[in-house]
Amino acid sequence: AKITFIQHNGNEQTVDGLPGMSVMETAVKNTVPGIDADCGGACACATCHVYIEPDWVEKVGARNPMEEDMLDFAFDVRDNSRLSCQIKVSDALDGLRVKVPEKQF
Ligand code: FES
Repeated sequence: AKITFIQHNGNEQTVDGLPGMSVMETAVKNTVPGIDADCGGACACATCHVYIEPDWVEKVGARNPMEEDMLDFAFDVRDNSRLSCQIKVSDALDGLRVKVPEKQF
């Protein structure tokens, strides 16, 4: 599944995500800047914060409760904020577009 990461400065990077991997792992594997993922995907750091582009919010779905708690620690949280380690890549998300925040904290 193709996933596009949009940087704060507008730079875009489209990479291949393997179904079953998380969006965070996909970013790290492809050295997408701005996804620090300090905890390695345990939903314990909030440094994998992304904004889901409006067209995709519904498909990606809602935050889980643990993620909701962790997002309290993220920088500039918005309605479309998600932790990318909590989003699994799937064919249904082919074409997904997410924005990387200006900073993670
Ligand atoms: Fe730490 Fe997502 S990688 S919360």
